[in-house]
Amino acid sequence: MVGMPDLLRRGWSLLRAPANELGFVVRSTLRWRRGAPPRRGGDGPTLFAWLPAARRDGAHERAAALTQRYDLGALREAVDAPVFARNLARLEGLERLIGGRAAPLGPDGALRAVDVGCGDFHYATALQRGLSRAAGGARVVLRGVELDGHGVYRDGHSRADHAAAHAAGAGRGGDLVTFETGDVAAMRLPEQDVVTAFFPFLTAYACLQWGTPLSRLRPRRLLRRAVQALRPGGWLLVVNQTVDEHRRLCRLLRELPVERLRRCRFGSDLVPEAGRTAGQVASLWRRHAMVPIGKPTG
Ligand SMILES: C[S@@+](CC[C@H](N)C(=O)[O-])C[C@H]1O[C@@H](n2cnc3c(N)ncnc32)[C@H](O)[C@@H]1O
Repeated sequence: MVGMPDLLRRGWSLLRAPANELGFVVRSTLRWRRGAPPRRGGDGPTLFAWLPAARRDGAHERAAALTQRYDLGALREAVDAPVFARNLARLEGLERLIGGRAAPLGPDGALRAVDVGCGDFHYATALQRGLSRAAGGARVVLRGVELDGHGVYRDGHSRADHAAAHAAGAGRGGDLVTFETGDVAAMRLPEQDVVTAFFPFLTAYACLQWGTPLSRLRPRRLLRRAVQALRPGGWLLVVNQTVDEHRRLCRLLRELPVERLRRCRFGSDLVPEAGRTAGQVASLWRRHAMVPIGKPTG
């Protein structure tokens, strides 16, 4: 149900539309890059400083177990406490969603995955580790793609600078993690075993709040492209902000050859923004055996 204050908030957000369009054109034209930002770890004792003291010990125990299970020591040294906690949170969410399922692999025994709309890809390590575990340690080739890569952060580096650094830090052994800017709705992706989308925009409100131009809001086309890229049996993994948004996703996916394997909550009490993650819903879908997909429309 959408109440009056909510309606006003949504209506108000429409005023941002022209600024978002203009900002995106400017950013995409300038394509600002400044190279890799310095890695910012080393604030060890402050991990979970945002939690009430009574909950910190439990959080540290969970962090220690995940760090060992997923080999996160290097990540802890490289990033600040909130980013590290967000990686832990995504790993717990992925464990809850995937459980003991074995991920689909390609004919060469490797797992190829694309993360659609990866933002600054601060969770690249968690995603690589989660996929690697589901793939039984098989080689993982993960590619993060982001439409709006050239926004400039407070440190003077662009989102793409940060994303490329997070991707580079996530690679391990023979695994490869890369980042690129691009519009997935307009790309032809090679065949994938897994496509992930964390918080894809399904509504104008979400799109405008993030600063993205409404002209690029094409959820039906984006999902079609994602499913089209999957080989039969491949996985589509989506996380939505709310149950309503998840329902919208289900309606959109009804038109496509996928079946839902599982749905669960994704929010985490480990991150500084825990309250805002409370309604998050994750779902895992499998592409049916060969079914033709029509031409994308809007
Ligand atoms: C809510 S953000 C989520 C970012 C990231 N997945 C995360 O979990 O932090 C959605 C992202 O999708 C990107 N996006 C939207 N449409 C896209 C498209 N067609 N191709 C690639 N990225 C897109 C947006 O620019 C935005 O960064």
